[in-house]
Amino acid sequence: MDYPEINKNIDDYATSPNLNDLKQRTDNWSWEQIENELEIPNKKFNQAYICVDRHAEKNPEKLAMIWHGANDAIENYTFQQFREESNKFANAITKVGLQKSDRVFFFTDRIPELYFACFGVLKAGGIIAPLFSAFGPEPVAERFNRAEGEYIITTPNLLSKIESIRSELPSLKAIIVISHRSKQSELGNVLQYHEIMKDMSKDFEIVNSDREDWAVMHFTSGTTGLPKGAAHVHNALISHYATGKYVLDLHEDDIYWCTADPGWVTGTSYGMFAPWSNGVTSIIYEGGFSARKWYEVIKKHNVTVWYTAPTAIRLLMKAGSELPKSMDLQSLRYIMSVGEPLNPEGVVWGEAAFNLPIHDNWWQTETGAIMVANYPSLNIRPGSMGKAFPGIKVAIIDDNFKEITEPDVEGQLAVKPGWPSMFRTYWNDEERYQSRFKGEWYITGDRAKKDIDDYFWFIGRDDDVINTAGHLVGPFEVESALIEHEAVAEAGVIGKPDPVAMEIVKAFVSLSEGFEQSDELRRELIGHCRNKLGPGTAPREIEFIDTLPKTRSGKIMRRLLKARELGLPEGDTSTLEDD
Ligand code: PRX
Repeated sequence: MDYPEINKNIDDYATSPNLNDLKQRTDNWSWEQIENELEIPNKKFNQAYICVDRHAEKNPEKLAMIWHGANDAIENYTFQQFREESNKFANAITKVGLQKSDRVFFFTDRIPELYFACFGVLKAGGIIAPLFSAFGPEPVAERFNRAEGEYIITTPNLLSKIESIRSELPSLKAIIVISHRSKQSELGNVLQYHEIMKDMSKDFEIVNSDREDWAVMHFTSGTTGLPKGAAHVHNALISHYATGKYVLDLHEDDIYWCTADPGWVTGTSYGMFAPWSNGVTSIIYEGGFSARKWYEVIKKHNVTVWYTAPTAIRLLMKAGSELPKSMDLQSLRYIMSVGEPLNPEGVVWGEAAFNLPIHDNWWQTETGAIMVANYPSLNIRPGSMGKAFPGIKVAIIDDNFKEITEPDVEGQLAVKPGWPSMFRTYWNDEERYQSRFKGEWYITGDRAKKDIDDYFWFIGRDDDVINTAGHLVGPFEVESALIEHEAVAEAGVIGKPDPVAMEIVKAFVSLSEGFEQSDELRRELIGHCRNKLGPGTAPREIEFIDTLPKTRSGKIMRRLLKARELGLPEGDTSTLEDD
């Protein structure tokens, strides 16, 4: 079914959009002007200064964060408190020994101290490297070692995962444990957050920082090899601020809620940097997904702008549109989604449930900020990711890396380098970083097309990376975990389409001599992967097969496994081993 265009009339809005004419804004775009709005003092090009101290100086009593605990405890923090707590942590971590550009890993629950510590590390000159708290010990060790990390900040419930790999982390200098509201207990050879914060001053002179100094590292999966650490610099904040203003449409009085976990890039770029650089109050909800609970959070805090993800929207759709209607969520004025394709049904369902369509947008870890979006003032074509952000050239290119200007032709989605939040390297893997640039383009790894009016339409990934519930999973990481089990001779991992999570991780396994296929073994292998990798990364399905299709050079042909799974033509199999 084709969905009609949703027309936008900005005169209907109670809050006039910050971007009311995309073309005009694009024609007159200037990054310099954006930067001037931030009034950044010399040598303080620091994300923590721009997000926290700048607002504490102007508007100290304004709420920066409303924290809503999983048990419904509420804590409010003003920009002034945020400045003081992050200063204290900057003093504490400096005393512990942090040097400029040290990598500090965050592996914690969603608690207020996580945010204070992140900004404290940035003030002290360190690099924050967030990790998803549902990871098992193996992904933590791989990422930490790839970045030669120095510190890990964690919570008591996650500490055992780190202790189990501690001896495998040669560069680790200290573990800091945050016990939020719970009594500190003896935890062994670690530093306790509240202890090291105790006598620290509330003042801290932010280390001299330059726009090109390192700030944030996020790990992202590829087709081959282990995850790569995409490294970003303080300058990225220009993009976070600009997209916060023009895509998230943040206004001074907004109450904003980004549902993404702070262990993923959306949880930092849009859970922290975009709202706080715009001086907006942000909700941090500690709990997990529940349709009713999420609506209660919106209602309780009068959330106005809401940024979420397609898997969550599909789950909300399952819970029906009567529930949100019955809860009278009048405060909501604007809803967005990112991370996976948003089905047109989801866009339109927003209108039934909230009287608001859902605005899809596109970006990735490497781009650091939103590149393509449906803006509040732009008519929505349901199923499209929207149009390029002003100041950014996004294109469809052919296999010779030449732009395709004809409309509706599928090709590779590419972005012209030079935007402020572009990643600056893959940590310790400059060669792989360089391989992402071809001709005059950064190659995103996605396939898409552009229609005659410059709307972009996502087609699929150009590689074997799996997108499960908005989280990218590298098949190699899962295959490696599987073959560590004695029963597994070989493994090939693909994304299998799923109506809710978009894709689930499915593994094809051939067994070693002496092992028999059984449901019990299947369960054991899934359990083995869950322990090592965590529940979001482990396979949900395992199928035993006698041999895996391989190229003559011995590479597993995941493409073929996927085609067979989907009942699709197998394509070019000329390099297949047994042909
Ligand atoms: O394949 C695209 C998909 O998610 C990838 C980026 O994932 P990650 O690096 O984890 O960044 C998360 C921050 C968004 C993209 O290369 N993706 C993201 N947004 C969309 C999308 N696919 C379709 N539609 C989207 N709106």
